[in-house]
Amino acid sequence: SRLPSLLQTMPKAELHMHIEGSLEPELIFALAQRNGVQLSYPSVEALRAAYAFTDLQSFLDIYYAGASVLLKEDDFHDMAWAYLQRCQAEHVLCTEIFFDPQTHTDRGVPFEVVIQGLTRACERARTELGVHASLIMCFLRHLSEESALATLEQSLPFRHLFIGVGLDSSEKGHPPEKFARVFARCKALGLRLVAHAGEEGPPEYIHNALDVLKVERIDHGVRCLEDPALVQRLAAEGMALTVCPLSNVKLCVFQTLAEHNLKQLLDAGLKVTINSDDPAYFGGYLNQNFLETFEALKLGPREAYTLARNSFEKSFASDDQKAAWV
Ligand code: HPA
Ligand code: ZN
Repeated sequence: SRLPSLLQTMPKAELHMHIEGSLEPELIFALAQRNGVQLSYPSVEALRAAYAFTDLQSFLDIYYAGASVLLKEDDFHDMAWAYLQRCQAEHVLCTEIFFDPQTHTDRGVPFEVVIQGLTRACERARTELGVHASLIMCFLRHLSEESALATLEQSLPFRHLFIGVGLDSSEKGHPPEKFARVFARCKALGLRLVAHAGEEGPPEYIHNALDVLKVERIDHGVRCLEDPALVQRLAAEGMALTVCPLSNVKLCVFQTLAEHNLKQLLDAGLKVTINSDDPAYFGGYLNQNFLETFEALKLGPREAYTLARNSFEKSFASDDQKAAWV
């Protein structure tokens, strides 16, 4: 079949990935060595063996531990550069990268170190790889509104280096409304707005991400199918859902890929995209997500075209830039 090669070579955009989730175990150990950080796992193999998650929180605990090796600007650069080279190899022409400043500033790493390292990799990607990479700053929703506001304040001198803001980390018990004032300020600053909603949390969180936060894309959103009125609304508004199939299986949102609801979402007329979320932790980069999902759900070239087109259409790139891609 020619489908795998179509999926691998077709131009596509990635709209939902956390750069800290691209840290491969080998790089975690190399950076630990370089920075003199002590890890609580004896080897790459032992660390990888710990990647057996039961839910979102069990993943987040290991993900934040892995990020503890990131200290210097070069560390952030090297992490992002490895991911961006992978984008080029996988025909990902555009990527809108999440980063979690609070994970680093709470350990004493200056905001500037994080964003300068990531920016240097993004600029290199544009010139050396032909990959268009932008940054989206995420607030950790398990932390306070006050901490998010302080992070936004710290980011203002670097406002020109990121295109938008998002909301990630532990969803249940931390509804969108908690960040209503933060997102209102971001909107006034002209930032693009997205939020994780309906991964583990209920459909109500998707409604409130739209109504209260005024987001322009929903990250995950797979639980929308529990609420037919919400599905109607998402379809009518042409709202993007940045779905992450391998992530959803690893975090037990669906038991198997064959049980994933991505095809139902597409059939409901929703603007679905496929994304890798945390590729180093969830079993693959973007093309692996396409290959395994198409196999498990028996999708074909028509869906491939729709998903790739949606990814460019729902990116935050300019219309001129989009015209060059589609
Ligand atoms: N959900 C919430 N927070 C995250 C995720 C996710 O899938 N990945 C990294 N941070
Ligand atoms: Zn995510």
